[in-house]
Amino acid sequence: MIRVYFATIFCTVCCVLSLSAQGQTNVSLKKVLPFPIGAAVNAKYLKNNVAYRQLLLAQYNCITTENEMKFKAIHPSKGVYNWINADYIVDFGVKNNLRVHGHTLIWHGSLPLWISKFQGDSVELEAIMKDHIRTVVSRYKNRVASWDVVNEAFNDNGSYKKTIWYKILGPDYIARAFKYAHEADPNAILFFNENANEASPLKRNAVLKLMKKLMARNIPIHGLGMQMHTRLAQPNSGITTAIKTAAATGLQVHLSELDIRIRPYAYSDSTDKAQALKYKFIVTQYNALVPKKQQFGITTWNITDNDSWLNKSKSKPEWPLLFDKNYKPKKAFNAIINSF
Ligand code: XIL
Repeated sequence: MIRVYFATIFCTVCCVLSLSAQGQTNVSLKKVLPFPIGAAVNAKYLKNNVAYRQLLLAQYNCITTENEMKFKAIHPSKGVYNWINADYIVDFGVKNNLRVHGHTLIWHGSLPLWISKFQGDSVELEAIMKDHIRTVVSRYKNRVASWDVVNEAFNDNGSYKKTIWYKILGPDYIARAFKYAHEADPNAILFFNENANEASPLKRNAVLKLMKKLMARNIPIHGLGMQMHTRLAQPNSGITTAIKTAAATGLQVHLSELDIRIRPYAYSDSTDKAQALKYKFIVTQYNALVPKKQQFGITTWNITDNDSWLNKSKSKPEWPLLFDKNYKPKKAFNAIINSF
């Protein structure tokens, strides 16, 4: 009995020491939050950075592929698919019981030249789109739970972006992309993903109109992703309206790429606190305004300030995430934890 007692104490102490040695904390987002919490990840860090991997597993229960499933990465030339990195992330997710979100099937960004400079007709491009969606979605059937089927289709003024897909296939490419994805994996939860919903009422309305149209036509769309790459200066009212508008669709709502830029302000104790308040505001508003059955979850765009896409240039540092460059929780992390 006494032996068991001391063994338990010994294990607990070891566990706490090892967690703090890795710069982690023993409170965890995934345990505290009442909805799924994810992070975008990249294969390079997952493979090579132990602290990154451990922080992910300690804090999050979902992952999104940050770049590895984008067209250029996964389908670099006609008929050639490169699965190595995407497979690595999906296998890692499945092995570790993380819900895996696929990003992204149809987008104007990260296109290989054979698509961005495409010269053929609509029949040929339609066949390429169909093949791409079917091939990628079928490969990960029942392992990737959900997809951003179409990403960023609108300009901030609410007009359609004149992407190669739009120009050659017309606006209905969106509906057809969803059909192809659904045919390839009828169980996958399919999202339309858009940026700047919180900053642009025109874009918000355009997205809402499209969601209603697609649903009225019984197009297999199940969710609306709002990227929420936002900033300290973004007024809270836009965030609230964006979340309410998304919830009103009745679709699953995913805050899919959350980060909060500090710039153009300098990083200081007070901007760090202001960022914490903004994170707390977003996360609590999401929980309050999105009905439980529509809460797909919140995903931050990577894990620490060290690996954020906004922090690639040494001369212009950013501090957009919940963990700092040393993998330590920031005020924003504590503010979220303390609100639940
Ligand atoms: C970004 C990645 O984070 C960067 O590493 C990459 O260089 C460019 O793309 N909206 C999206 C994401 O939907 O795919 C983008 O990701 C960020 C903006």
